[in-house]
Amino acid sequence: MEIEQDLVRVSFTLVRFAAFAANALIFGAVPLLMFVLRPAFRTLEAESWRPGRGNLAVRLEGLIRASLVASAVATVLALLLQTSLVSLLDEGDVGLDALEAVLATSFGIWNLIRLPVLGALSVLLYQRVQDVCLSGMAAGERKPGSAWWSLWALLSLTLLATWSFSGHAAVSSPVWAALVNDVVHLAAGSTWFAGIVILAVILPDVWQHKERPDRLRILSEVVSRFSRVALISIVVLAITGTLNSFFNLESPGDLIDSGYGITLTIKIALFLGIVVLGGVNHFYVRKGLRNATEDGSSSDPYALFRKTIATELVLGLLLMGSTGLLVGLDRTRETGTQSAPAVSSGLEWGPGRSA
Ligand code: HEM
Repeated sequence: MEIEQDLVRVSFTLVRFAAFAANALIFGAVPLLMFVLRPAFRTLEAESWRPGRGNLAVRLEGLIRASLVASAVATVLALLLQTSLVSLLDEGDVGLDALEAVLATSFGIWNLIRLPVLGALSVLLYQRVQDVCLSGMAAGERKPGSAWWSLWALLSLTLLATWSFSGHAAVSSPVWAALVNDVVHLAAGSTWFAGIVILAVILPDVWQHKERPDRLRILSEVVSRFSRVALISIVVLAITGTLNSFFNLESPGDLIDSGYGITLTIKIALFLGIVVLGGVNHFYVRKGLRNATEDGSSSDPYALFRKTIATELVLGLLLMGSTGLLVGLDRTRETGTQSAPAVSSGLEWGPGRSA
């Protein structure tokens, strides 16, 4: 029985990791497109970069589609895992009664809400990411409307908020402050994470068949804009993350002598690694790219960029993994209910019991 419970907990951590990463990509693509990618392409000749923009749009469509599917699968799995956990704790059968009990809790309700939100996002984004997210820069190209962007941002923010409303923030005090802080934390984290994934994995498709000077030019435009967006995200993450820690820790000593605190300490260490790499990108890579573009110097900052962005991606994935574990552990601050909903029995968890 204990082994089964441990298995469910490990599976929950993996499911949360997948869901956090997928939801971050769905939301984070919006600020990335608005403040980094579209402005960067606007500085280049629209016609000659049309194929590059097309490649990037196709890859973005694939990324968003995969994230929507991953988020839906993770949500269904989370509900099933919670159902089996309820059954294990009650020593009963995994059946409809247990599922009904889970769906009557706040955890079940917020997970269920996620599904229609994902459905609406699928309808809104299907094929349109590819067709319009980077278009409107050359004559005859369809421009995305502001209503489309606003709806994408609003629905994906709702998706992020479902995590805050079904997690520790919903049982913190004062609850409104914890919830607002958590949603802002998630939005900033998503923006940073989506930026790293897009720069590391799909941006190279833009300069296929282009010469070195062109590659450096687009990279320089994108990196200098992302550098500013990342700086703001990192500052917001540090502030909201610290506040989140106050909401969940009883005392600073818990950082080294409780499971929750140690996991948080590991997360903060990973974050510090990200800050250092962000500094390298901001002060060396960005400047190097600008110099190489302006005076054609022979140094190749692209090699350094590839190393730092790949390392940031690995640290980002580890950080998301540690967060998946963190939100499932018992926090040490004693207000409301201790357990995160996804590892408590669900029947016992506070906010949703009467729902
Ligand atoms: C790149 C940086 C970061 C990312 C991508 C990130 C991401 C996340 C995510 C996805 C959550 C889950 C929120 C939820 O379930 O409602 C979270 C929660 C949290 N984060 Fe971060 N975070 C980052 C940095 C930080 C930092 C620097 C700190 C501490 C100073 C921190 C402390 C926390 C705490 C305490 C929670 C609440 C966990 C709980 O519900 O028990 N985070 N973070």
